[in-house]
Amino acid sequence: DDVVHPPHFPWRHTGYFSSFDHAALRRGFQVYREVCASCHSLHLIRFRELVGVTHTNEEVKQMASDVDVMDGPNEEGEMFERPGKPYDTLPSPYPNKEAGRAANGGAYPPDLSLMVKARHSGHDYVFALLTGYCEPPEGKEMMPGLHYNPYFPGGAISMPPPLSDGGVEYDDGTVATISQQARDVVQFLHWTSEPESEDRKKNACKYLTVVAFMALSAGYYKRWKWS
Ligand code: HEM
Repeated sequence: DDVVHPPHFPWRHTGYFSSFDHAALRRGFQVYREVCASCHSLHLIRFRELVGVTHTNEEVKQMASDVDVMDGPNEEGEMFERPGKPYDTLPSPYPNKEAGRAANGGAYPPDLSLMVKARHSGHDYVFALLTGYCEPPEGKEMMPGLHYNPYFPGGAISMPPPLSDGGVEYDDGTVATISQQARDVVQFLHWTSEPESEDRKKNACKYLTVVAFMALSAGYYKRWKWS
């Protein structure tokens, strides 16, 4: 199969002692919301999980309330619409998979919550995919509705190139090139796939410090006892 493996990029947040760049997460969420969310869901993420990560409590409440959520049944057994609450999941673009397929020439835009974990070298792959659209090589016929992308297995993907230079306007003044947006949205999608990773790394530092101390004292005690 003609698959080009993505190059490895030096992500700054993947080390044992590094945390996410939260300004990048905030920009990445903006890219998701303004670009990807018209086709892709993030059904594992609730608005309230964004508090303290990308947005303040007030901003999250406001964003959630801008969404109409189907709820119910009420006492009369009817479904009804209400403004979103922070405990709601982020809205999905389509009511079901059939509608998603119908809108995209038969290909379903997969949920992105775990995408960075689901694909081999996920960060590098998603970044390469988003920035890798180009003209097909000489002689490669593209079927209508498919786009050439060497990083997608088979080379022909139903997703049209989603990013464009200046496609979003960042409120922190960062210049929104295609690669900047891709870099930001990949970091955000890493967070969605592992929202607990910062706590986990912090706790690991604490536990390993204690374990190292206990190992040293056990070693000392053993030598003392047997001397
Ligand atoms: C597939 C990411 C925007 C439609 C995918 C895949 C990823 C992805 C990672 C999976 C590729 C694979 O299976 O290996 C993104 C991101 C976006 C974005 C990060 C925003 C920056 C969009 C938009 C649309 C779209 C705006 C609709 C116009 C699709 C479709 C597929 C897909 C139809 C399935 C492709 C196929 O199986 O041929 N996207 N996407 N995506 N995306 Fe997007």
